[in-house]
Amino acid sequence: MAINRREWIQQSLLASAAMLVAGTTGAYGCASGIRERKIAGSPILLNWNENPYGPSVSATEAVSEAIKNANRYPDDYIVKLKEKLAKLHSVKSENLLITAGSTEVLSLLGQHVGLQKGEILTAYPTFPTMIQFGERVGATIKKVDLDNNNRFDFDRLSKAITNKTTLVFVCNPNNPTGTEVQTEDLKSFCRSVPENVLVCVDEAYIEFSEAGPEGSMVSLVSELPNLIICRTFSKVYGLAGLRIGYAISNSANITALRNRHLGFELSAGWAPLVAAGATLDDQKFIQMCVQKNNEGKQIVYDAYDEWGVKYNRSSTNFIYTQHDRFDKNVVTKMRERGILITKWPDMYDHIRVSVGKPAEMQTFVEVVEEFLV
Ligand SMILES: Cc1ncc(COP(=O)(O)O)c(C=O)c1O
Repeated sequence: MAINRREWIQQSLLASAAMLVAGTTGAYGCASGIRERKIAGSPILLNWNENPYGPSVSATEAVSEAIKNANRYPDDYIVKLKEKLAKLHSVKSENLLITAGSTEVLSLLGQHVGLQKGEILTAYPTFPTMIQFGERVGATIKKVDLDNNNRFDFDRLSKAITNKTTLVFVCNPNNPTGTEVQTEDLKSFCRSVPENVLVCVDEAYIEFSEAGPEGSMVSLVSELPNLIICRTFSKVYGLAGLRIGYAISNSANITALRNRHLGFELSAGWAPLVAAGATLDDQKFIQMCVQKNNEGKQIVYDAYDEWGVKYNRSSTNFIYTQHDRFDKNVVTKMRERGILITKWPDMYDHIRVSVGKPAEMQTFVEVVEEFLV
């Protein structure tokens, strides 16, 4: 039906107004959708699981060289990075989609489920991005509990799959609990999910886990047409601010995701692409980050053990800790002391502390001790 220009403008404004009204709560429930971190001085940032050692020198050098090409579209380098990743994961380039952080993969999948009014099944608490995007466009969310050790519980998940389930989301290691599951258990679960139900495994922290990169589900991609893995360069690779991640799946799923992708897979520009490529080649940097992260964790474990505070030994770069041994306003009080830690509204009775440099963790321990109850 033809509409005139005036009607079109009215409709598009109405449409965008409706979207604005619907979208008042952004990621992590902040009103602007932008997660603010304004605080006087130089706060110790232990709230977003960033890598305090990044970016690597190899990444910054690659970026300063690549910026000279910023007048050109980066398509060729997308091809190059995919070749590198394909080799690393023993898949083909057609199995990969490069995105602006893994948030884009999660949002595309959430929207995919929501647009067909489908259902996302997951265990909770877990990383909420896909759920939030799905809910906004009509997905139903079904949550089961984690097990008693705050890990994904595959018995519960399997029993919860019905003919309404469109996608099962598994975060391994899990955010916010920091726990990982046995690789073989996750493989068996992935294999057990009916082929018409998608399985997304978010491996944002896999490099920090006990299993390490070997614990990835990537070897199942050629076997399971319903499996999608998302990975990020924001964590051990130290590139959170450059926004780059990727999906690994069979080529049909990758094509479907690319067709929905608003940027024709061009949302990562030169800088993130070359930084990712250089850091992939810099295994020394990765090993240093993992080792230093372990040192930082140990400082906190030692203090918590001494105080009798319960926590999960972490397979990530953050520690999930029982809240009740601390002042109920510990997050705010730490903030007032210049140390940012996290508590999401649905983290029940826990707080989450990202692992910074050892000196930062020492300071964290000294300050948080004041808020023990
Ligand atoms: C489990 C998990 N997945 C995905 C992301 C999103 O990361 P990014 O969009 O920076 O790649 C995060 C960020 O904290 C995360 O914890």
